[in-house]
Amino acid sequence: MPFKVERMRIEDVPEVLAVDRRCFSTPWPESTYRREVNNPDKNLYVVLRRVGEGPLTNPDPRTGFLSNILPFRKDGASPTPNPVVGYAGLWVVADEAHITTIAVLPELRGRKLGELLLETLLEHAIGAGASWVTLEARVSNQVAQALYRKYTFKNAGYRKRYYSDNGEDAVVMWSDRIDTPEFAEKLAGLKARLYESLNGDLMGVCV
Ligand SMILES: CC(C)(COP(=O)(O)OP(=O)(O)OC[C@H]1O[C@@H](n2cnc3c(N)ncnc32)[C@H](O)[C@@H]1OP(=O)(O)O)[C@@H](O)C(=O)NCCC(=O)NCCS
Repeated sequence: MPFKVERMRIEDVPEVLAVDRRCFSTPWPESTYRREVNNPDKNLYVVLRRVGEGPLTNPDPRTGFLSNILPFRKDGASPTPNPVVGYAGLWVVADEAHITTIAVLPELRGRKLGELLLETLLEHAIGAGASWVTLEARVSNQVAQALYRKYTFKNAGYRKRYYSDNGEDAVVMWSDRIDTPEFAEKLAGLKARLYESLNGDLMGVCV
């Protein structure tokens, strides 16, 4: 199944919202995405697209099984070509980059696509002149924390009751310094292995 990564555009926001609602218990409002996409000097928001038309094999529980096997949606529109199946975002302020969000549709997880999004953000952060990258994750989100640890992130503290839906704490993670030859070498090695495992599935990264 081929995929590509592109810069998020305003036209992508409705699709991104649909993915967000399936990935997070407290989705962002549309206005936040619009504001972020309209501020490309300070940030990078990307979408992961599945290249080609047609339904995913897994049914979307919210729209029902039939909507996934019929060629047309209930509203009569054709299926979206190259649908958005994941996305990620990053701010850069002075020498710090902050990963604000990253998500892949549940039925496509475990295929290195989240890692592809993270690696893309990190390369951008280096290009933008950042020295460190930080982010917050739910303390219970072991999958995300494992992904970040793979890319040198370490726990640096906690924000108590950071998540309003259930009062869960956030763990604050920081990367190693990213503007060093050591990090460049580490990232190049991880990227080589990542791209090798994505093999023919990656059609391109154009951000
Ligand atoms: C976090 C998320 C983006 C990871 O995406 P993914 O495509 O499933 O992950 P990948 O296949 O790219 O995995 C890359 C790494 O993540 C970690 N990982 C992925 N799935 C894992 C699992 N089930 N258990 C433990 N670690 C896991 C591993 O370190 C893995 O590297 P490895 O394959 O060398 O072991 C995805 O789970 C997601 O969208 N979750 C919901 C939204 C979310 O929680 N976002 C993070 C907010 S902080």
